[in-house]
Amino acid sequence: MFGFESFDRSGTGSSKWARAGAGRIALGLADMDLPGPPAVGAALAARAGHGAFGYTVCDPGGRRLVADWYRRRHGVEVDPDWVMLLPFGPRTAVRLLLEAAEPRGPVVFGSPEWGGFGPVCRAAGLPYHEVPLLPDADGYRLPLEEFARLRPGAVLVSSPHNPSGRPWRPAEIRALAELAAESGGLLISDEVHGDLVHPDAGARHPVAVAVAGSAGSAAAAQDGPARCTVTLNSVGKTFNTSGIPSCFALVPDGRLRERLGAVMAGYGCWEGGLLEQVVQRAALTEGEEWLEGLLGHLAAARDLAVAALGDAVLARPQASYLLWLDAAALGRRAGLAPGLPPERTREALLTERDVELADGSDFGAAGRGRLRLNYALPLARLRLALTRLTCMDGL
Ligand SMILES: Cc1ncc(COP(=O)(O)O)c(C=O)c1O
Repeated sequence: MFGFESFDRSGTGSSKWARAGAGRIALGLADMDLPGPPAVGAALAARAGHGAFGYTVCDPGGRRLVADWYRRRHGVEVDPDWVMLLPFGPRTAVRLLLEAAEPRGPVVFGSPEWGGFGPVCRAAGLPYHEVPLLPDADGYRLPLEEFARLRPGAVLVSSPHNPSGRPWRPAEIRALAELAAESGGLLISDEVHGDLVHPDAGARHPVAVAVAGSAGSAAAAQDGPARCTVTLNSVGKTFNTSGIPSCFALVPDGRLRERLGAVMAGYGCWEGGLLEQVVQRAALTEGEEWLEGLLGHLAAARDLAVAALGDAVLARPQASYLLWLDAAALGRRAGLAPGLPPERTREALLTERDVELADGSDFGAAGRGRLRLNYALPLARLRLALTRLTCMDGL
């Protein structure tokens, strides 16, 4: 119905396919080879029909749309005043939030963890610690005691976790917010995969600003862990619009909102953005039926990939479209030369099987010997990739 059965991005300048190279199937970068909601394209086309594209105000109604989204999709109350509509992607938002927060202790995050946090800290000149996550049956647990021991100035977490697709438990996120608050720091919960929790996960996505305090009550947010917590989200991953970078931050602390606004102004950025707002509005108001269809498609794709890759799968994802794999086990399934070092598996799969995956070491030291596969693509092409990876026909 939404064109998920076959879709071709050739000739569109897709980074993922450019990185993989001609003749290969690109399963590396985290965007989807699936068409986004028709409403987003239609809204962009309608706006493009007007000839002026000058400076644009931030529509305060956009904050209400975000709050409505959280009420409908997550059952939590978000004060529209907390919402900042940012005309850049989540990576930039993390960087500018850290600049605004001026952490007095180290920045702390897990390993493996989304590969953007380390470069952001290095670029900002902030000391940081990558703490190994604790493996468990669902993927990983958060090493809360070790995080606390480091007395962090800021804690960063992808929630749900990229690369394992694990939604953290509400108690874990609350504990992170508390330990950030106890050391006078800030929790930045990067929830860009939070709207993609699989319907069969049996878990609800914990919106950090909600689980850290009593959401919806501005008074309650003035003190305690909620005030030291930021939820970051975007329509980029959910609706496949990352090429038009935008995001929104839920920031209960009014002073932090002010400081972030001032930092942004120093870089010539203000809330809103012309195309960013068009995309956000269309996605949040008209994209839900499409999103339900997408979630059904992703669950089917996940099941196909998990069944085909068997013991190479480290955790069955409960959210998003990323599969975390053991490189050595995958190399065996793919029939690569026995004894090939796991760190050379990615290259061998690229050149010998024409499938491009993400290298686990991009996710920190604990990602060595791991690979990440993006399964958000039409099932026929996913089957072809899995056939190449397993040397098995008839998947
Ligand atoms: C957890 C997380 N945060 C942020 C991003 C991307 O942010 P940006 O589009 O700003 O590079 C990604 C992309 O994979 C991600 O997984």
